[in-house]
Amino acid sequence: MKNLSIFVIFGLLASFSHAIELDFCVGDTSLPRGPEGYACKDPASVTTDDFVYTGFRGERTTTNVFGNNVTLAFSDAFPALNGLGISMARLDFGVGGVIPLHSHRTSEVLILIKGSIIAGFIDTNNTAYYKRLEVGDVMVFPQAMLHFQVNVGKTPATAFVSLNGANPALQLTTPSLFAGNLPAKIAEQITLLSHKEVMRMKRMFGTA
Ligand SMILES: *[C@@H]1O[C@H](CO)[C@@H](O)[C@H](O)[C@H]1NC(C)=O
Ligand SMILES: *[C@@H]1O[C@H](CO)[C@@H](O)[C@H](O)[C@H]1NC(C)=O
Repeated sequence: MKNLSIFVIFGLLASFSHAIELDFCVGDTSLPRGPEGYACKDPASVTTDDFVYTGFRGERTTTNVFGNNVTLAFSDAFPALNGLGISMARLDFGVGGVIPLHSHRTSEVLILIKGSIIAGFIDTNNTAYYKRLEVGDVMVFPQAMLHFQVNVGKTPATAFVSLNGANPALQLTTPSLFAGNLPAKIAEQITLLSHKEVMRMKRMFGTA
């Protein structure tokens, strides 16, 4: 019994302590991802370029249905983030463009670098926290909360975000209901929207 409890205690210590045994673990995206991320690329083949992401360069077009363009620097696109618990994204908004209601597995901080947006989140008590941000302002969206951004300026807007996960995911509420394989009937039942409105949304996303 005594031996068993010592075994249990050491087992717990092992599962709660994350000993740092590597300087870095650039993800090998050719292998399947596990719950802790990707396996490491052979360190002998890692170069400085692995640690530099150039995907945020240049201009963006904002012609999709939401008037936005989102560039994700998550571990799939930037494998050096693998295992580091951090990632970024660039958000571009056309005039009137939005990042629709969505959530991540992580928290997010946003810094606005161009334009003016209303950013906000909604907590589990349905309380909305939102504010008009100007260039240089930072807002935090606590982990897993539904959040959104709306360009309310007269010009395009750009923001950068950082998330405390290498693969924080991006789950958009409206597309999750109408752009995927969820049958219209179930979408109606779980949203209380009319058949007509659900079909309008499905047509907008090309699923009806
Ligand atoms: C985002 O902008 C780039 C550069 O203009 C463009 O190639 C890409 O198709 C845009 N993506 C979307 C979803 O509009
Ligand atoms: C929850 O929302 C209600 C209604 O908006 C509000 O009166 C109440 O103060 C909120 N509770 C908390 C804990 O924020």
